[in-house]
Parts: sequence; structure tokens; C-alpha cells
Amino acid sequence: MSLKLAVGGKGGVGKTTITSLIARSIAALNKETKVIAIDADPVANLAAALGIDESKPITPISELSDLIAERTGATPGTMGGFFTLNPKVDDIPDRFSIEKDGVKLLVMGTVQKGGSGCICPEATILKALMNHLVLARNEVVVMDMEAGIEHLGRATSGSVDALIVVVNPGKRSRVAADKIRKLGQDIGIKNIVVLGNRVKSEQDKQLIQDSMPDYEILGYIPEMDEIVTADRNGARPFDDITQMPVELKEITKKLIALAR
Ligand SMILES: Nc1ncnc2c1ncn2[C@@H]1O[C@H](COP(=O)(O)OP(=O)(O)OP(=O)(O)O)[C@@H](O)[C@H]1O
Ligand SMILES: [Mg+2]
Repeated sequence: MSLKLAVGGKGGVGKTTITSLIARSIAALNKETKVIAIDADPVANLAAALGIDESKPITPISELSDLIAERTGATPGTMGGFFTLNPKVDDIPDRFSIEKDGVKLLVMGTVQKGGSGCICPEATILKALMNHLVLARNEVVVMDMEAGIEHLGRATSGSVDALIVVVNPGKRSRVAADKIRKLGQDIGIKNIVVLGNRVKSEQDKQLIQDSMPDYEILGYIPEMDEIVTADRNGARPFDDITQMPVELKEITKKLIALAR
């Protein structure tokens, strides 16, 4: 099963929560499917949401200096010089991910941007890895993006089955969603859908629907005590994912229907 999903949205709307729940629920509903969850946010925190033990710190791919040097032929932190622009990356997802309950987590890390668009070794590895994950792997990939969805390039975006824009009830969500949709459209993502998160009532749903009539709405996830409490305790919500809320199950089924 091949399914490539990117999750975007304004800061704090629930991207990480939703990414983890979708990744876990796809894995739970399709036991034979491999699911890779990608933390592409500079402030990585998808591990906790997936229930992955963080007592041993997880080194982001962008900080694996020896590996990057070996694969690109250039030392991270340097600019210019000669290095390969298509390094070998196909073994990285299996070697450097951490698995829990059928979901493998890959933490991408960040690249310090130098001057006018640096083509440094770290950026080259991340780009090659994203391309590989989205284009070459016959798996489910769910990406927790920062608002800028900047890890997605033109080469990969055509193969993204859906960009899920998470919004909360409220006027400001519309503005943020428009920005993300513009970014998504600019790089060529065809299917851009909205997921309303933290809805407390029918009125909240209506508010989202009315303010975004030109968007396809994937579904709504209610405001849930389970999520608030888990977050407070540093635990993952719905530890037994088979007890997932019906709304999540419906959304997951719709997403699985997009698989190729
Ligand atoms: N449906 C929900 N019900 C209750 N609380 C929620 C729900 N969704 C998210 N939250 C809470 O909202 C907060 C922000 O969620 P989360 O970290 O997933 O957002 P984010 O968009 O990834 O944030 P950031 O932009 O900082 O990465 C967390 O405390 C989370 O537990
Ligand atoms: Mg987040």
C-alpha cells in the first residue's frame, strides 16, 4: 500500500497530535502495512505523541554528521566544494527510525539556512531522503510538517496523496489555511483537504464549514479530555488505539481510500 500524507497547519492547532493518531490508526487498521511517521518540524516532538521512549535522545538525521559526510562526500557545516547531489539514502529509514506498534518514526532535524538557499550536505541528505520516502517507497508515510511545509519540494509534491491542513474553529484558521494551500499549490500538491480539530459543538463545525466553503473537509476531531490529559502526563492519547474515537476511524478510512 502506498499512501503519502502531509499534515500542515498554523502553530498549535494539533498537527503533531493528528499526525500521530493517523499514523497509529492506519497501522492498527492495516496490520500488514508499514507506516513511517516523519517529524519534519524543527522542534521535534512527534516521538512523545507516538508513545516512543525519549529517555535515550533521538538524533535527527540532519545531525548524523559521519553518515552525511560518508554519503555526500562532504563534511556537514561546509558550503561549496564538490559533493554528490544524489546520495544513497534507501537504508536510512530502516536503520535510523524507531518503531512502536507498527509505526516507524524518523526525525529529520533542521538545516541552518545560509545566505541565498544553501546547498549544503545536510540539506542534500534531507531532500534526497524525502524524495526517496515519497517517491520510491511502497509504504504509508505520514509527515508532520511545520507550517511552511518546506521539506516538500517540487519533485516530491506530485506524489503526495493529500495535504491535510489542520484548523481549529475560529477566523484565524482560514487565513493560515489559505497560506498553506497557496504553498501547497505552488509546489504542485493536487489534493488539499481540511481537518477541523478541537471542535466542541455542531456550531464549531458549522463555523469551519461556513468560513471555508471552497475546501474539501476531511472530517472533524472533537476536543477530547483524553488528549488533554495524555498531553499533561507526557503520555500518548488512546494508548489502546483500537479504542480510537469514531471520528478518527472515519477519517482514517477516507485516507486509506486514497492509497495506491
Ligand atoms: N482534539 C484535541 N482535543 C484536546 N486537545 C488537543 C486536541 N488536539 C490537540 N490538542 C492539544 O493541543 C496542543 C497542541 O497540539 P499539537 O502539539 O499537536 O499541535 P501542533 O500543531 O503540532 O503544534 P506546533 O505548531 O507547536 O508543532 C497539545 O497540548 C495537544 O494535546
Ligand atoms: Mg507539532
